[in-house]
Amino acid sequence: MKTTILLVEDQKELRDGLQVLLRGLHIDVLSAVNGQEAVDIMEKMDVDILLADVVMPVMDGISLLDWVVKKRLDTVVILLTAYGDIDQAVTAIKKGAYDYLTKPIDIPRLENTIKRAQEKRELMLENRMLKKSLNENTFKSIVGMSDEVKILLDKIRQYAPIDTNILITGETGVGKDMIAGVIHSLSPRSSKPFIKVSCAALPETLLESELFGFEKGSFTGAGYSKKGRFEIADGGTILLNEVESLSLPIQAKLLRVIEEKNFERIGGEKTLKADVRIISTANKDLMALVDEGAFREDLYYRLKVLCLDVPPLRERSGDIPLLLHHFLALYSKTFKKNLKGFTKDAVRALCEYSWPGNVRELQHFVESITIDVNGSVIRKSDIPSHILIGGMPKEKKLTFEPGTPLFEMEKEAILHTLRLTGGNKSKTAELLGIGLKTLYRKLSDTPLSK
Ligand SMILES: Nc1ncnc2c1ncn2[C@@H]1O[C@H](COP(=O)(O)OP(=O)(O)OP(=O)(O)O)[C@@H](O)[C@H]1O
Ligand SMILES: [Mg+2]
Repeated sequence: MKTTILLVEDQKELRDGLQVLLRGLHIDVLSAVNGQEAVDIMEKMDVDILLADVVMPVMDGISLLDWVVKKRLDTVVILLTAYGDIDQAVTAIKKGAYDYLTKPIDIPRLENTIKRAQEKRELMLENRMLKKSLNENTFKSIVGMSDEVKILLDKIRQYAPIDTNILITGETGVGKDMIAGVIHSLSPRSSKPFIKVSCAALPETLLESELFGFEKGSFTGAGYSKKGRFEIADGGTILLNEVESLSLPIQAKLLRVIEEKNFERIGGEKTLKADVRIISTANKDLMALVDEGAFREDLYYRLKVLCLDVPPLRERSGDIPLLLHHFLALYSKTFKKNLKGFTKDAVRALCEYSWPGNVRELQHFVESITIDVNGSVIRKSDIPSHILIGGMPKEKKLTFEPGTPLFEMEKEAILHTLRLTGGNKSKTAELLGIGLKTLYRKLSDTPLSK
């Protein structure tokens, strides 16, 4: 593959001379006379190596380097600095330049630097490919084929690269954390930290120091200084779980982080910059809290620039069989079991259940049933009774007119429960609160045995 170098130099003679030299090395050369022209070119195409002068009119080499770093481009940057200006060179390297060359240019050194830069670029591209396939796998970790999940996946793909805040809403266990993680790994911030904070788990003062950090001596017991989550997440993504439980003072601080992109540690003088994307999750209706005055309206709109609502599992029951098989395969392997699947009526019963704890509840259910069951399939009779009962459709529930003979009611209750448990007599007895022997006796009694 032929390398493309973008040469940015305001002095015409040097520019022309370098162009000839580089073309002699079988390199495609594009040229620009200042940083701004270079930006215009790089907005349109992917450049392998950027060879740029530092001192230029309009936009200098350091600002150009800043732009490349901010854009997270995989372009290798080499700067041309004035002879003896070591400070400039150090600044450039610190900011992310690959190397620097001093003027006047030493040709063998230039050739050597370009060769190493080409190798570096190849590594970067390989990494990019690896990351892409990793991202595809991350994406595939969200199991589901229902229309609801397809719409959600489309939105995730669309929103992930846009560097703005996202609010994810949905009931407990629907996959909000998981989705936030996928968004981070598909975003340009993926190589930077992904930091989770549970806003509901800590009391206000602890949460404040957790988020923003503190300086030594800022409060009783602060015998050392500590970085906050915003500092640790620098350049990456912060996930604020259960954002609805933030107190109003912390909401005010958070608003400032978003609006001014900076903050101070508790007791700190120095203003620190906050370069983070905020993903927040809420399982309550945040707008209702805004109406009650418990959540700041300005913050609400800052957090939900983009929003995703994850539907509860009962509204996409078509995904249940897929999820059951996904987790069964996972746990069969983990627990070295030879479970092949679920019987049809077991799947039907599980699809009828409302899963109030959503995917998390389903996952735990499959985990424990994988441990408990020893055969090769999971049957309806293996399913715990609370799931079977919870899944019983309303029209199948029993109703009796006043005055119905007790034996009739008993008969209906027994037959019904037997159907429900797939004919499992011990489970039926357990559900009815009678012993197994009593059940057998009742079953052999004339009114039931027909
Ligand atoms: N579509 C899915 N495919 C595979 N696994 C999923 C899916 N949705 C959720 N899970 C799994 O379910 C579990 C719960 O998900 P997660 O923690 O993301 O839920 P949550 O919405 O953040 O819940 P909470 O509101 O309680 O924090 C996790 O183990 C997650 O991996
Ligand atoms: Mg969560």
